Amino acid sequence: MNTDNRKVVLIGTGMVGMSYAYALLNQNACDELVLIDVDKERARGEAMDLNHGLAFSSSHMKIYAGEYKDCENADIVVICAGVAQKPGESRLDLLTRNTEVFRSIIGPITESGFNGIFLVATNPVDIMTLITAKLSGFNPRRVLGTGTALDTARLRYMLGEYFNVDPRNMHAYVIGEHGDSEFVAWSQAMLATKPILDLCGETGGCRIEDMKDIEEQVRTSAQRIIKAKRATYYGIGMAMVRITKAIFSNENSVLTVSAMLRGEYGESGVYAGVPCIVNRNGIQRVLSLSLSEEETSKFHASCQTLHEAYDELNL
Ligand code: 2OP
Repeated sequence: MNTDNRKVVLIGTGMVGMSYAYALLNQNACDELVLIDVDKERARGEAMDLNHGLAFSSSHMKIYAGEYKDCENADIVVICAGVAQKPGESRLDLLTRNTEVFRSIIGPITESGFNGIFLVATNPVDIMTLITAKLSGFNPRRVLGTGTALDTARLRYMLGEYFNVDPRNMHAYVIGEHGDSEFVAWSQAMLATKPILDLCGETGGCRIEDMKDIEEQVRTSAQRIIKAKRATYYGIGMAMVRITKAIFSNENSVLTVSAMLRGEYGESGVYAGVPCIVNRNGIQRVLSLSLSEEETSKFHASCQTLHEAYDELNL
């Protein structure tokens, strides 16, 4: 990885892709950003728009609309391409349509000689990440999805509000499918080093029903945002920048990205959101949480949904 010229190629310049690009620029999180879209004119327009903000920014990013051959020496290829979720539509409904889109883009990326890290945000993200790994033939440690990184951020935000504590001191993870079967590993949730389940048992502490309510709010956040404003993009864009920074700065940060499970949690051959150590190699390690029996069953059920959806594709 050339840390003097951190290069990202972004495929898909819709609202998610461009929220990511805008956040990258504002956080000076890479040095070269190439925009690719089926609508080339749109990619050109987006590059112009971002470039016109450079004089107001502390970044010296080189931004341009490019071609698949530009992936050759990229460090990270970020995929946001695909059709968007409609109100009432589940992320899994998108699957067939987005698989076709991915067939048309992964080939040209690998043919360019690209040898970096894939970061996938297209929904249903766990399955689209698995498809990326299969179609590219890359080591799955170099193919990661946004997974439950945003859901975890939503959870920490809501817990922070509830306890009136900085969300950065709320340590709790949403795991499993980025979708309806995701859940909070409450047995491992902490306020600083204090288990939240213990706090809920104390007089004047939290109420377990409130925690369940927060979990439900996290699970339904995307649908509620889509209903209100048709799409979600800022939150996911910022989650993607967070992952990008962890890769470029070789941070070894723990993030709930979508990772290929190879025996962890008793699952294999499936991508799901789990806490992982992320660094310049991509996923350095999947962390195995000590889940309760009930949580373990929920995790298997969530992975089962993903296995079934993938198998239905008959790839
Ligand atoms: C989100 O969770 C829709 O997956 C997107 O915001």
